[in-house]
Amino acid sequence: TAYEIAAIPGDGIGVDVTAQAREVLDTAAAEHGFQLKWTEFDYSCKRYAETGAMMPQDGVHRLSSFDSILLGAVGFPGVADHVSLWGLLIPLRRAFGQYVNLRPVRLLPGTTSVLAGRTGDELDMVIVRENSEGEYSTLGGRHNQGMPDEFALQESVFTRVGVERIVRYAFELARTRGRRVCSATKSNGIIHTMPFWDEIFAEVATEYPDVASEQCHIDALAARMVQQPDRLDVVVASNLFGDILSDLAAAVTGGLGMAPSGNINPERTHPSMFEAVHGSAPDIAGQGIANPVAQVLAGAMMLEQLGEYDAALAVRSAVERVLAEGAVATPDLGGKATTEELGSAIARAVKSH
Ligand code: NAI
Ligand code: MG
Repeated sequence: TAYEIAAIPGDGIGVDVTAQAREVLDTAAAEHGFQLKWTEFDYSCKRYAETGAMMPQDGVHRLSSFDSILLGAVGFPGVADHVSLWGLLIPLRRAFGQYVNLRPVRLLPGTTSVLAGRTGDELDMVIVRENSEGEYSTLGGRHNQGMPDEFALQESVFTRVGVERIVRYAFELARTRGRRVCSATKSNGIIHTMPFWDEIFAEVATEYPDVASEQCHIDALAARMVQQPDRLDVVVASNLFGDILSDLAAAVTGGLGMAPSGNINPERTHPSMFEAVHGSAPDIAGQGIANPVAQVLAGAMMLEQLGEYDAALAVRSAVERVLAEGAVATPDLGGKATTEELGSAIARAVKSH
């Protein structure tokens, strides 16, 4: 079998970590008897700075026939962050029906949590973030600019279809894991959209009597994620809340350098897109010291989505063995290794399993 994969390395460390992920994934593919046929795209903030557009006019269309997309990160000094988000990431997520943003979070061997005394077994959760609507909306605007009564208005959009499908996805996922789902809202303060979400969550929950369900206020849940993260399994949240919670969860379990994510089209009508949770990290870009693990694990999620479960497992297990040994570690893990050295060590571990 051969899969057609689009690689969008993007900017900054996105380029370095994507190169290493490709090496690891190609090694796993060769070991498991399939092929990844890569096509690289230059969609990025660098491209925007040079040409005025993140991608060509038919940029979305050019990606639509691929089996999957591996994205590095976008973000470039001098290019506003909303340009990269609304000029590339959001159009792709929406055009390709990637309404699930899946962010598994686990404390890996050989790494330390900021929470002393935590071990890998205790910290294993997944944030299911709604990825197509909610607070990330263009509805609204700026009014009375320059006047004393100046104000800004921003509307959120929650549709029944949109909420129901993400909540159902979370319950289905929980059935394959710890059978617990926690929904994060803020219905005491946000009085229209959030109670609507709560209502739909409660309705869907009745279809899953075998899964324990719980509704939390986002603020209390944030505290709990720090104090008792071992009591969480699947967490489902809106676009904004899910984004915030997943960075928090990543920080709690060993840092952004280790956190992968998938923008998933569950119906498989269009390609899904996999990426590290982290950004282009301009503070360390060009130094060759970024941790490639997050992007390698994003690649493992991609293999899983392609149905190559053994290869995905081989990649994850290689990451765990290299981290547990600790001999090759990037600076964020307390070592002195380069991105390339850690990537190659993982690729070797895939080969020698
Ligand atoms: P960031 O994730 O790029 O960096 C945050 C901190 O974590 C930095 O100190 C960075 O050095 C460190 N870090 C991140 N990934 C690391 C890795 N693999 N290894 C070692 N250290 C790592 O977030 P920041 O600084 O808020 O954003 C930088 C740029 O990235 C911005 O332009 C932002 O818009 C963009 N961004 C893009 C995303 C995407 O492409 N999906 C997601 C988040 C941010
Ligand atoms: Mg984020």
